[in-house]
Amino acid sequence: MNFSNTLEFAKQLDEQDTLKHFRERFYIPIINDNESIYFTGNSLGLQPKTTQDYVLNELEDWANYGVEGHFHARTPWVSYHEIFPELLVDIVGAMPEEIVVMNQLTVNLHLLMTSFYRPTKERYKIICEAKAFPSDQYAFQSQAKIHGLNPEDVIIEVFPREGKAYIDKQDILDTIKAHGNETALVIFSGVNYYSGQVFNMQEICKAAHEVGAFCGFDLAHAAGNVALELHDWEVDFACWCSYKYLNSGPGGVSGAFIHQRHIQNTELIRLAGWWGHDKENRFKMEQQFQPIPTAEGWQLSNAPVLSMAAHKASLDIFAEAGMHNLVKKGKALSGYLLFILNEINQSCDNAIMEILTPTDEDERGCQVSILMLIDGKRIFDELIKSGIIADWREPNVIRVAPVPLYNSFEDIFNFGKVLQQNLIG
Ligand SMILES: Cc1ncc(COP(=O)(O)O)c(C=O)c1O
Repeated sequence: MNFSNTLEFAKQLDEQDTLKHFRERFYIPIINDNESIYFTGNSLGLQPKTTQDYVLNELEDWANYGVEGHFHARTPWVSYHEIFPELLVDIVGAMPEEIVVMNQLTVNLHLLMTSFYRPTKERYKIICEAKAFPSDQYAFQSQAKIHGLNPEDVIIEVFPREGKAYIDKQDILDTIKAHGNETALVIFSGVNYYSGQVFNMQEICKAAHEVGAFCGFDLAHAAGNVALELHDWEVDFACWCSYKYLNSGPGGVSGAFIHQRHIQNTELIRLAGWWGHDKENRFKMEQQFQPIPTAEGWQLSNAPVLSMAAHKASLDIFAEAGMHNLVKKGKALSGYLLFILNEINQSCDNAIMEILTPTDEDERGCQVSILMLIDGKRIFDELIKSGIIADWREPNVIRVAPVPLYNSFEDIFNFGKVLQQNLIG
């Protein structure tokens, strides 16, 4: 598409946008008495206006039924989590029995690594991206230690090439091949939190399987942002959080995927809990653990219903909007943002910023990460003062994530205008 850096053009794109009315379904934070321009849905998504009612329903049922709510609430709590797989199948590209909503993201990462990182004397390496999100790095290191291994001997990071901000796919595939015989697990994020790079999950997974390793993904920045086909790509496992693009509130409940070919495998080591035990016999309180033959078999504890109610409120909106439409608009938004940033850069005598995110549509989602070459923090502070909420990462990076459910092309035009004013001013 041919873009133009004018208000008329941005408004015209908004006019044509079939998802534009979804913005009204969210609370937009107010700054200086005006609605802010909220570009941090990659960190904490906005609150749907329906969330309070969904949570209040559960509080009411708790008040009215007490413990009986487990069986008599409008959505009985004992099976509350069972509503989620159907709502997530399109978002992560999976079969219902491959999905379970439970715990928090790092907890799920550990639970799944317990099953899928089973190092042997010959095969013990973990291949991952350099500078993975810190929680993931700590998880990888501690998983190595649990097995009595030295993380430095175990973890192989794939780095961007000299002078590049993101990782070349070929380098990932070559690294997997080079360390094939000794690799137990290949684990990447779906979208890198810092650069916004979308990894080619299908090819990474195929390469991992070709050398006999398992392959998993942390989808914190991918779920609800980019198209995922976890089942068809034959990913072994994945997990994600719900508080970013999935708008389910701070610390919201996490999701996990375990491929169909593993869910009935009782030989897989797992950390077990009563909520993963066969439902028919759960309350018989038997000693012998019999896992549910779906992803639910990885559950430990009973469902955090209040947090799940918020998750349901948001996923009902996703079901209405359609993941395919959201991905398409997300790419159009980030494409327009890249165009405007490029225009601004070209209008300056010397480049004032460098784009860290790949420009190729297949390698980016909503997020664009900008390395400010001059005066970054001052400009960021001016953006905030002007009512634009973006995200600052040391040393000099501004992350901007226009989200298809509640951001507009006009938001992006206005962001560019304020950015430009503060460069010149
Ligand atoms: C990529 C990634 N992994 C892990 C985490 C940690 O998530 P949690 O605190 O829900 O465990 C985050 C949080 O932002 C993240 O972005």
